[in-house]
Amino acid sequence: MRPYRTEDRDALYDVCARTADNGGDSRPAIPDLQLAGSVFAEPYPALEPELTFVVDDGQRPVGYIVGTADTATFARRFREEWLPPLSERYPAPTSGGEPQSLAELFVSLMHDPERLVLPELADYPAHLHIALLPSHQRSGFGRELMRVFLGALHNKGVQRAHLCMVTANTPARAFYDRLGFHVIDVPDPGPVNYLGRETLW
Ligand SMILES: CC(C)(COP(=O)(O)OP(=O)(O)OC[C@H]1O[C@@H](n2cnc3c(N)ncnc32)[C@H](O)[C@@H]1OP(=O)(O)O)[C@@H](O)C(=O)NCCC(=O)NCCS
Repeated sequence: MRPYRTEDRDALYDVCARTADNGGDSRPAIPDLQLAGSVFAEPYPALEPELTFVVDDGQRPVGYIVGTADTATFARRFREEWLPPLSERYPAPTSGGEPQSLAELFVSLMHDPERLVLPELADYPAHLHIALLPSHQRSGFGRELMRVFLGALHNKGVQRAHLCMVTANTPARAFYDRLGFHVIDVPDPGPVNYLGRETLW
C-alpha cells in the first residue's frame, strides 16, 4: 500500500476498466479502455492526489482507492478543469434519452458532475471509489485501503464520507456492510444505493 504517483495513471485506467461493470470486467462492453477511468478513477488523483492510495504488487498497482474531501468542490472542478479536455473525445450526449449502453451511461455521467451533489449527502461531504483486480480481492486489501483513506480524511478534519454503488453489486455491498457503512436515504435513487460512515476508524 502506498500513496499515488503520476506513473500509476495507466494502471488505474486498467484496474477501473476491469472492474467497472457492476464490479466485473467492462472491457467486453466498452472497447475504449480509458472511458471508465476518466469518470471514476483518474479525475480524483488529478484533482486531489493526496487522497489516492494504491496496492502495488511490486510491479504495478493492482488496486486503488480514490476520492475527494468535498464533493461540491470536486463537482465544480470536474466541470471546469477535468471535463473540457475530454469533451472532444467524449462528446456530450445530444439525444436527452436514456443511455442505451454502458458506454453511453458513462459518457452521460461524465457530462453531469452536478449529479454528485445531493442535499441528503451534505453531512457526508467526502466520497470515494475503490477497486481491486480479481486476483487481489478477498485478501484484506480493500479493508486496508479504506482504513488509510478514511484516516487521511479524518486527519484533514473531514468527519463523514459517502459512496454511491450499483445496488446489483451485492459482493461490494457485503464488503461495505462489514466495514460499517449504512444506507443514506435518498429519494428515488434509481439503480444505486448511497452509503455513508464516519471517517473515524
Ligand atoms: C469490493 C472490494 C473493494 C472489497 O475489497 P476486498 O479486498 O475484496 O475486501 P477485504 O478482503 O478487505 O474484505 C473486508 C471484509 O469484507 C468482507 N467481504 C469482502 N467481500 C465480500 C463478499 N463478496 N462477500 C461477503 N463478505 C465480503 C470480508 O469477508 C472482510 O470481512 P472480515 O475482515 O471481517 O473478515 C473488492 O472486492 C473489489 O474491488 N471489487 C470489484 C470492484 C468493486 O465492486 N468496487 C466497488 C464498487 S461500488
